[in-house]
Amino acid sequence: MLTLKVNGKTHKVDASKETPLLWVLRDQLGFTGVKYGCGIGECGTCTVLIDGKAERSCTITADSVQGQEIVTIEGLPADHPVKQAWISEQVPQCGYCQPGMILQAVDVLTSQPGASKGDMAQAMDDVICRCGTHPRVLSAMELAAGKMKGSGGAS
Ligand code: FES
Ligand code: FES
Repeated sequence: MLTLKVNGKTHKVDASKETPLLWVLRDQLGFTGVKYGCGIGECGTCTVLIDGKAERSCTITADSVQGQEIVTIEGLPADHPVKQAWISEQVPQCGYCQPGMILQAVDVLTSQPGASKGDMAQAMDDVICRCGTHPRVLSAMELAAGKMKGSGGAS
């Protein structure tokens, strides 16, 4: 039995220690905002926050993050500046990559508050979007960065 803290709640999960976090979150806990893409840590669509840091849930075991704070897209508040900016800039197209894209953006904007647009582009480059939303991603990140700066940051 594993104990995971997800989106502010503690869950007991019957899973083997080797089970990737992705499958525990999706199949056992029902957080289907966590998407499966490549399964080998290359695309970023399965990204979640672990203690505030963007991590690829397909390549880490659920066992290894027991006791840490896991946040999926479902746990990011609706009024979070990044979510709000995504809506303002109408970022998604098909939407499949967007939960991972948003959570990576939250990490980047929180950990690099003075990031330039170039810094943001570099930090987001390895989250793959087959719909080509990166230009709107960067516009939304610039918008969110301004709001987070004004509020002293946001988690
Ligand atoms: S599904 Fe995890 S990085 Fe692609
Ligand atoms: S919005 Fe379709 S893959 Fe990114």
